[in-house]
Amino acid sequence: MEAILLVGGQGTRLRPLTISTPKPLLPTAGVAFLAHQLARAHAEGVERIVFATSYRAEMFEEAFGNRAHGVDLVYVVEDEPLGTGGAIRNAARALTSGPDDPVLILNGDILSGHDVRAQVKLHEEAGAAVTLHLTEVDDPSRFGCVPTDDHGRVTAFLEKTPDPVTNQINAGCYVFRRSVIDTIPEGEVVSVERETFPALIASGATVMGHVESGYWLDVGTPEAFVRGSRDLVLGALASPAMPGEPGERLTLPGASVAADAVVAGGTSIGRGAVIESGATVTGSVLLDDAFVAEGATVRDSVLSRGARVGGGAVLDGVVLGDGAVVGPGNELRGGLRVWPGVELPPTAVRFSADT
Ligand code: GDD
Ligand code: MG
Repeated sequence: MEAILLVGGQGTRLRPLTISTPKPLLPTAGVAFLAHQLARAHAEGVERIVFATSYRAEMFEEAFGNRAHGVDLVYVVEDEPLGTGGAIRNAARALTSGPDDPVLILNGDILSGHDVRAQVKLHEEAGAAVTLHLTEVDDPSRFGCVPTDDHGRVTAFLEKTPDPVTNQINAGCYVFRRSVIDTIPEGEVVSVERETFPALIASGATVMGHVESGYWLDVGTPEAFVRGSRDLVLGALASPAMPGEPGERLTLPGASVAADAVVAGGTSIGRGAVIESGATVTGSVLLDDAFVAEGATVRDSVLSRGARVGGGAVLDGVVLGDGAVVGPGNELRGGLRVWPGVELPPTAVRFSADT
């Protein structure tokens, strides 16, 4: 089977991590995020993937070349971002599938353990135009809200509605009949969520929902990105692309961790990264050459390439950009993001005991 991978978004919610690297290429559990998606797609029977790229397009080909994780890869670039539907239509130029063949479409920022073969089977049995993977979340207003009838047929598609009618959402993995992709207007900005799906449903086409609520995560925010990396390292979602066994931590070659440092909770430690004596690092992502000094505490945070945390500093839910420096004794919490290269002097930021 062939797939189209949508990777043209700017990843704005993940800044400053996405200033230099597109979201799908961020190192996650030791490898580029997409490596996990490619390896899982291969395991689900996908043989060829067309990358629909736009933002920093050349970096994808540099990262993966013509073949990776058992899948043949081709790249199609949009001069201007065409939206999700326009990107699918544009990338379809490079498909080899026939008009009735199923083609898989994947959002490029999803970790999912769902059964793609079962989704394709439902699609074929129903003779559907499109079959969407649906899952349940607590806050459907941030996603595409997708109600279905008793037969699993999709009855509406409500993208980011303030009034969701169900907790069931679009999980960002579709099976399209190839000929249906060819009905999307060419060379125009089209949203598959706001235009194509509602139009198909209104026209009476068969749009099916494959409801499956296993492991699923959109890594589009810093909190979710850290959670996804942590879950992969801990083995909550098995990935054939993980460069090591699941466990409390993943240490890449060339990293150095002091014997009495506590490093756990699914932390990944990049090449050349250093964790000094007495430091505690839990549930975090340390990219290459990150540095955690003596006695510092780092929880649920991202330290980008070459970022440094000074002695005794505390970071909780923080993102440090490339080369950012947090001087000794600072205490940073709650979603704070430090831009690349910024240096915080010693004890510049502290929380009082009752915050
Ligand atoms: N090539 C290309 N061109 N890709 C694009 C473009 C574009 O113009 N715009 C977005 N993409 C890609 C993004 O890179 C991402 O992989 C995917 O399309 C979805 O875009 P997001 O920006 O991540 O959308 P979202 O997370 O707000 O919502 C989407 O995903 C939800 C599930 O996580 C929607 O599909 C929702 O309906 C869905 O519930
Ligand atoms: Mg997303």
